[in-house]
This record gives sequence, structure tokens and C-alpha cells, in this order.
Amino acid sequence: MLAADPSTNPPLRTLAGARGIGIGAAVAPGPLANDPAYRATLAREMNMIVAENCMKLHQIQPRQGQYDFAGADALAAFAASNNMRLRGHTLVWHQSAPGWLKDRQWSRAELLNVLSQHIATVVGRYKGRVCCWDVVNEALDDKTPGLRTSLWHDVIGPDYLDHAFRFAHAADPRAKLFYNDYGTEGLNRKSDEQYAMLKAMLARGVPVHGVGFQCHFVFDSYPAPETLVSNMNRFADLGLETQITELDLRISTPVTPEKLERQARAYGEIFRAALEARNCTAVLTWGLTDKYSWVPAFFKGFDAGLLFDKDYAPKPAHDAVHQALSIDADLAVPPGSRGAGPKL
Ligand code: XIL
Repeated sequence: MLAADPSTNPPLRTLAGARGIGIGAAVAPGPLANDPAYRATLAREMNMIVAENCMKLHQIQPRQGQYDFAGADALAAFAASNNMRLRGHTLVWHQSAPGWLKDRQWSRAELLNVLSQHIATVVGRYKGRVCCWDVVNEALDDKTPGLRTSLWHDVIGPDYLDHAFRFAHAADPRAKLFYNDYGTEGLNRKSDEQYAMLKAMLARGVPVHGVGFQCHFVFDSYPAPETLVSNMNRFADLGLETQITELDLRISTPVTPEKLERQARAYGEIFRAALEARNCTAVLTWGLTDKYSWVPAFFKGFDAGLLFDKDYAPKPAHDAVHQALSIDADLAVPPGSRGAGPKL
């Protein structure tokens, strides 16, 4: 059914490739192993994938020094056999703290050692296979200026970010190292802070190469596209690559055809913003199909945030992205001039 649908032809990855931008989705090992339609749609439409959960510390190092690479290995193998880039998500995240990590007292030196071991092991294993790592995820506080409270921050101090990036760079000098966050997509207090933080890190010689904007938005309420572009461009002016890393546009239930059309317009606007931004190298949605999205579980009363419905049919949002990637008039950014381009 899907292959016959003219809206998927040419597939998104072909169009994105011609524009010199990556297109991808967050992936989970379960459906990758068990759902052939999931595999087929990913392989056909996407030239990148990112680990939704299986590279997070609590999953990849569930007990201290004991690693479970099964899920991440499966993603890496799938990416390699389908000529896709793989994003690593994420090495340091306050929400990923298993019992062995949070239920004891650490000295600063001990915790730095945990951080260094974790990063050397995980980044080392996927050296040359992960194009970009979200080294630190969501370090900035939402409500008050500055870094949020976390084990890493409270025990090591604010320089835990610098250490994490340096450890990752030592383990894979060619991987692009990203700082990733939400609420920093537009021009606001938090994005100003993120800008100042990354500028200072670069001035200290910290190996940070890119910034990821999550973009978990409500379908009819998100920053204006021109704001997204100017914000991404100021980070590009620092010499950083930018990516939209976790896009989804959740719809308040009941989901209606009108809301799906409005969502489609929003997807089109956001993809056009990414194409217009000077150094935006990829757009990834947080999941492939509404069948497995995190949205209904995490946002009560919302659903249907992605490009493919629960039966893998392309939604109006998919068609809008298809169209946004197809328009070739006035290429603001010539293909090939973004970042290093896809390392395929
Ligand atoms: C989410 C996953 O989608 C869920 O399955 C999991 O239970 C919690 O984490 N920002 C991030 C992602 O950086 O790692 C989060 O992923 C969504 C918000």
C-alpha cells in the first residue's frame, strides 16, 4: 500500500539528500526487531536514526561497569546496512540516573571517574559509527538562570559539561559533539543563556561542535519560523552546526482532519526554517509512527505528533514535509555547504 502511494515517491531521504540535509527519526530496538513495516518505512524514508532510549546511561550501563549494548548494536547495524547516519543520544542526562548511580554518596573524583569510564566505553565502542553525540542533554534549568540541579552538577560542579565533552572527544575525535536542549528553539531567556554558555565553552577550547534543538511543540503553538531561523543562525555564527533533534507536533485529542491539516502546515514551516538556517544539518522527528510515540504517555490529552499514522500511512504532515523538501526555487543554502554534509 505504501509503496504505491505517490506522496512517498521519491522518498523523503532522497529529497533531503538532494538538499544536503539529514532527515531522521528516533528509533527503539523492540519494533526494529519485531515490526517489518517499521523497518521498511525507516529504511525507505530516513537517512539518519537516533536512539530514543537505548543509549541512555540507565539502559546501556544498568549496573556499574556492566554494559548492555544489545539495543544500541542493533541500531548501529541497521544504520550501517541502510546507509544511514546514527546520532548518539545521550551521554549525560539528569533523568537517566539508575539506582547504582543515585543511591550512594560519591566524591567528586569518584564521579568524574564514573563519567570518564562511561563516556570512554560507550563512545569508544561506536567510534566511527556515530556521526554526532548529544554529549550533554538538558543541562539548563527551566525556571531559574543557570544549570539545573543534578547529580553531575552537584557533585562535580558546573565544569562537568567541559569534562564530558573532553572525554567524548578523546574517545572519538571525529564525532561531532552536541549540546541538546528544549525551550531554546526561539529567542528567549533560556536560549540566550544557552548561547552564552556555548560561547564561553568554545572560548575555553572545549570541543563542542553543534547544538540540538529538541522542538517538542504543540501543533498550533510554537516559535515563529523566522525566530527559529535567527536563533539557529546566531549559533551558526559561533561556528556551531545546528540540528532539530526531537521534532514532534502533538495534537490535542480528539484528532480531527482540520487539526491534521494545521499540523501539516506547521511541519512545512519548521522544515523550511531548517532549510533556510545557514548551518542546520539535520531534522529528526522523535519517533517514526504515532503507533510508538512517547506523546500519549507523557502529555495527557495529546496524540498524533509524527509524520506517519499508526498504520504507517503518510499523514498530511508527511506530505507537507515532502513538499518543503521538494521546492528547489531560491536555495538559500546550497546543498553541500551545511556542516560537513552527510557522512555516508
Ligand atoms: C523520552 C522517550 O521518548 C521516552 O520513551 C522515555 O520514557 C523518556 O524519554 N527529551 C529527550 C528525550 O531528550 O530523551 C526524551 O525521550 C524526550 C524529551
